Amino acid sequence: MAIQAVLKMGERSLLQRSHEVDTFNSRQLEQLIEDMWDTMTEEKGVGLAAPQIAVNQRVVIFGYDHNPRYPDAPAVPKTVLINPTITTITDEIDYVWEGCLSVPGMRGLVPRFVNIRYQGYDQFGNKIDREASDFHARVIQHECDHLDGTLYPQRVEDMQYFGFCEELENNGYLEPQPCDEA
Ligand code: NI
Repeated sequence: MAIQAVLKMGERSLLQRSHEVDTFNSRQLEQLIEDMWDTMTEEKGVGLAAPQIAVNQRVVIFGYDHNPRYPDAPAVPKTVLINPTITTITDEIDYVWEGCLSVPGMRGLVPRFVNIRYQGYDQFGNKIDREASDFHARVIQHECDHLDGTLYPQRVEDMQYFGFCEELENNGYLEPQPCDEA
């Protein structure tokens, strides 16, 4: 078990497409996932993608029991998702402020699909097939973007809605609250 350093925007490897996992239930994969949970917990994230700790494999983790910033949102089950695919269920899009552990202290207003289906595998090779909405769906889209080398600032459509948390709060864009990062 080890907390790993989270790579920050500017690192070239964050912009690469990550590789498919082809061997499940391996010691190497188990170690990677342990490191990812340790790092996400330490950084108080709601999700993490393997390339954020310098491993360019298609592995993401996400989930929490209770998020004080979204007290009414249902818990998102703690999930390891490997080689994920996302399909949209409806065309509906919403715009919500996002943060990222690789872009610390900043937030941007990002469009995401509201209702999605996601499929993939856990670390043992068992199939995962779920539907998700709202914040749950947003976290998955954010994490899966990391696997294709996309960081959320690349999805901000109007750059007046991208900046440092404190300044966005001072200028009335954001409610004063801790940044939510994934
Ligand atoms: Ni992120």
